[in-house]
Amino acid sequence: GHCQSGSDMPQIKFDVNRRQYEIDVDDPTMPLLWVIRDFVGLTGTKYGCGIGQCGACTVHLDGAAVRSCSLPVSAVAGRSVMTIEGLSPDGRHPLQLAWQEGDVPQCGYCQAGQLMTAAAFLQQNPSPSDQEITTAMSGNLCRCGTYPRIHRAIKRALTNKPST
Ligand code: FES
Ligand code: FES
Repeated sequence: GHCQSGSDMPQIKFDVNRRQYEIDVDDPTMPLLWVIRDFVGLTGTKYGCGIGQCGACTVHLDGAAVRSCSLPVSAVAGRSVMTIEGLSPDGRHPLQLAWQEGDVPQCGYCQAGQLMTAAAFLQQNPSPSDQEITTAMSGNLCRCGTYPRIHRAIKRALTNKPST
């Protein structure tokens, strides 16, 4: 009889910002970044270096900060990705508010990655020291040198947080 196997392309299911996606991938090594930008259509996550060195492409994978340029899409099967677009429903995450108050971005290119790194970090460590903030953010590069404003905004976000 006829071969019924059809396409051999593997299907990968995963969530992005709490919506489920199912994609056919002919190359499971394709970086997650391209899937987010080209397939899911969310362009807030940026391509900087492509080799895991700058942090511009940072997203959350099951709550942890990862570099989507260096993560094969096969690695996210069954898992949950969050991008900058999903960080809050209305742009009012404490970090986003602090970023606005502190007028942090210059060109803006690195900022989604900065925010995603900071957000994952504060989840893990809700009351960090200055040194811990510096260390946590040290892998996210900014060609515009907004580092001092980023640092101050993270501290502002800590104090802005509603007390519990
Ligand atoms: Fe991913 Fe630079 S683009 S780390
Ligand atoms: Fe321009 Fe960071 S604001 S690279």
